[in-house]
Amino acid sequence: MPYYSDEIINEVFLENDIVDYVSQYVRLKKSGRDYSGLCPFHREKTPSFHVSQDKQLFHCFGCGASGNLVQFVMRIESLDFVEALKLLADRAGIFLPENESTYNNAEYEKKQLIYKMNADAARFFYHTLVDSPNSETARQYLRERKIAAKTITSYGLGYAPDSFNALFEHLLKSGYSQEDIIRADLAASKDGRIYDKFRNRIIFPIIDLRGNVIGFGGRIIQNEDDGYKAPKYLNSSDTPVFSKGRNLFSLNFAKREKTNEIILVEGYMDVISVYQAGVRNIAATLGTALTEQQAKLLLKYFGEILICYDSDEAGQAATLRAIDVINSVGGKSRVIKLGGAKDPDEYIKKNGIEMFRQLVRKAVPSTEFKLSLIKNRHDLSATDGKIKFINDAAEALVGIEDAVEVDAYIKKLSDETEIGKDAIYSAYKKKNAKKYRQKTPQRLKIEKRTDKNEQAYFDAGNLNKLAAAERRLLNLAAQHKKLSRLSEESLPFSEFSTDVHKQLAQMIYRAWDAGKEPEPAKMLLNFSGEDLKDASCVFYNMEVYDDDEQTVIDLINHIKREKLQMQINQEKDPSKLKELLQMLTKFGEE
Ligand code: UTP
Ligand code: MN
Repeated sequence: MPYYSDEIINEVFLENDIVDYVSQYVRLKKSGRDYSGLCPFHREKTPSFHVSQDKQLFHCFGCGASGNLVQFVMRIESLDFVEALKLLADRAGIFLPENESTYNNAEYEKKQLIYKMNADAARFFYHTLVDSPNSETARQYLRERKIAAKTITSYGLGYAPDSFNALFEHLLKSGYSQEDIIRADLAASKDGRIYDKFRNRIIFPIIDLRGNVIGFGGRIIQNEDDGYKAPKYLNSSDTPVFSKGRNLFSLNFAKREKTNEIILVEGYMDVISVYQAGVRNIAATLGTALTEQQAKLLLKYFGEILICYDSDEAGQAATLRAIDVINSVGGKSRVIKLGGAKDPDEYIKKNGIEMFRQLVRKAVPSTEFKLSLIKNRHDLSATDGKIKFINDAAEALVGIEDAVEVDAYIKKLSDETEIGKDAIYSAYKKKNAKKYRQKTPQRLKIEKRTDKNEQAYFDAGNLNKLAAAERRLLNLAAQHKKLSRLSEESLPFSEFSTDVHKQLAQMIYRAWDAGKEPEPAKMLLNFSGEDLKDASCVFYNMEVYDDDEQTVIDLINHIKREKLQMQINQEKDPSKLKELLQMLTKFGEE
């Protein structure tokens, strides 16, 4: 069997979304944090098949089928592991080598070469900025913009010298061919001469989630007031390793932040200046409108996107588009409104980071933002204006899943216009029904999910109390480092009661030790058959606890007590039995 590196498997997982894929086979409906539908692996009338986008797993509470995306593909398409991986790689346009020895396949090699060349170019730009006597203007410019030396280093900012081909010459000397340098979009040929792509510009390296330099942005060194003689920013064109619509600036840093929200801004400078001030869950698109792939990528790491675009007309229009894109991939968003500043960079220069943090906390739900813009477009003093306003507003409410939310907005609209709630509601219902008809054939409508299924698998007789408690504990340990540490202190992995649990505990503890968040989908690659079902159940705990930390402590006690009880049941030696019984009293009654 061919061997695939973690890197390749990572890429396949990163570029494919389980909800996306499963939707080809199952009509999925959002339910809570997950999606659910009728299980494709057994016959059922009420949906017990769940897909978690967070964890990139599926699980059927009816038949127990479960696993990650690769395992779904294996089952539904009757493929083996390698074939399934291939199918997903193809789907995402990822090149999958036939086996280890074909790693020197031309295409793969070319990509590696460009990564390396980009890293060399980034170093060249950085050193030019920091060391070269000819870079004083660039350094001066960054000083004026209050970019600290430390920030220059962490982002690897640079300067492309004011020369036709300094980088090109440098790369040639380092052994790269003219053809490859052009392929990497670092130089271009014109009238028989080779020109550097970036000349006399501040350079912003764009880095992917694996730390590769994939492309560059370059800013002209000139102030707005002086007018620009060339485009303000130049960006790398798409190359074999770079695609503007699939990457975001600074997501490699933001990804490390354990926040639920990511702040999305328009500009490189916005990101850098906010990051420098200490707010690090921030990223920017790369000079184009937000794409679905970018939204999905962000939602893979964050629960909610806070859009903080420029405050001008163009920024508002872009905000509306971004809201729709995020909605269309099932994500949540809010809008941060900048008062009295054109962009986040200017805002924090004027008001400081604390004020910005406050704005972030006050981010308004996207629907509210949309409604306020719609309102501004209409003249509410005229009846005609009111009617048009209500019509547009009702349209904006279509697609909101939470009935209470819809109701709250309708009430607000009614207050604002003095048009009755019922009338607004029926306008909304008509639009909603129209949209719904377009999308969902009636007969496939799915009944509301009950939580009985989930509860059943904890309480079922086939799972002993000990294993059930361990499942809950492992589930929590996989979610937070702190909880994992608590668990590890009292229960080393070897003390779990089944091999599957032992393996999972070890993987979870190790991941946190290595500074990584455990990834359920990837951990499940180590299991198959009944073990896979078992392991997957660990991540399919839908219970919500008031106090996770206390729950972990309770579970540990429970597990220790259960284990003692089992020992007691088997102990024949009276004196040892007495000892064990005494220990048991220490844990108190359940
Ligand atoms: P802005 O013009 O708002 O730039 O464009 P900025 O990032 O705030 O930079 P400063 O503060 O003026 O220096 C926002 C983003 O749009 C893209 C870039 O990605 C930029 O960061 N852009 C802008 C281009 O790609 N080309 C351009 O000519 C202008
Ligand atoms: Mn800007």
